[in-house]
Amino acid sequence: MSTLDLPSYLEQSNKVKDRFDKLKARETILEVKGLGKTFDSAQGTVTALKDINFKTHRREFVCVIGPSGCGKSTLIRTLAGLESPSSGEVLLDGKPVFEPGPDRGMVFQGYTLFPWLTVKRNVMFGLEMSGHSRSTAEGEAMDWIGLVGLDKFADAYPSQLSGGMKQRVAIARALANKPRILLMDEPFGALDAQTRSKMQANLLEIWRNIDITVLFITHDLDEAIYLADRILVLKAHPGEVNELIEVSVPRPRHFDQAISPEFLATKKRLEELIHPPLDDNDDEPGLSMIRMVPVGDEVENGDSSVDNSAMTAEVD
Ligand SMILES: Nc1ncnc2c1ncn2[C@@H]1O[C@H](COP(=O)(O)OP(=O)(O)OP(=O)(O)O)[C@@H](O)[C@H]1O
Ligand SMILES: [Mg+2]
Repeated sequence: MSTLDLPSYLEQSNKVKDRFDKLKARETILEVKGLGKTFDSAQGTVTALKDINFKTHRREFVCVIGPSGCGKSTLIRTLAGLESPSSGEVLLDGKPVFEPGPDRGMVFQGYTLFPWLTVKRNVMFGLEMSGHSRSTAEGEAMDWIGLVGLDKFADAYPSQLSGGMKQRVAIARALANKPRILLMDEPFGALDAQTRSKMQANLLEIWRNIDITVLFITHDLDEAIYLADRILVLKAHPGEVNELIEVSVPRPRHFDQAISPEFLATKKRLEELIHPPLDDNDDEPGLSMIRMVPVGDEVENGDSSVDNSAMTAEVD
């Protein structure tokens, strides 16, 4: 079988083009300008990010992918104000970010709920901290808990919830403060495949229905294509922007689209960027295998020069 003849990942239907035109006409929520980040450690200086530039527009869904260690978490932590830039700046609604603030909601991979508080009290926490009365906070918290489908679990403790449910509470808690942008660092990374798919669909449904911009980090190419308007691809160490890809898959999205030409063309491009063909001059040592199975006991049918007929005759 030959590789599928795919359209270019750059090709867009008129409807998709129109969607991107409208999206780019919206106001800028987040602007990252010449962002660099270095860390000093016992091993010397590590450059985690180098000259990162991009913008996100209101109600845009941006995914960030890149090889492990390329600086994705450092990027999101800097956007959150948990790390300070070594060079460049991060602007939210045109104002520089110096520290964490309620205008940015965070959801991480690890479950970050307070284990001693119920679901409702976890979601109320930030609201009460920002000065809402207990009764207002409770009403608002219940609205958000309802939005993520957990009304029946409002009085449960995190230890009584599944991983997916805990992440739904984390999303409700982050959204309750009405942030301008939701920053998510591999939030579904620890979930099983089925729960993960459900969470992706839930998140898109929430995003469609409220005024929120999302920046979502993932390792998973399918997840990025399913969720994103645009995908920011970072290069391996140090993180630099490799490409910003507009996902040409129409919305609303559904899982059947994973075999559509647009989806596959985008995935092919991401594969090329994330897993480039191995270079012959690569310094990494290759494998030097000693064959420990009988010749003829093939596990794949390639263009092998080995004659299997003797073995086949024996088996027969
Ligand atoms: N606090 C720190 N001190 C020193 N080096 C750090 C620190 N935080 C991150 N780094 C380094 O910065 C680089 C980027 O790390 P980061 O965690 O941002 O990568 P990542 O893309 O999120 O990786 P992964 O895909 O594995 O989550 C790595 O080389 C890491 O060792
Ligand atoms: Mg990370």
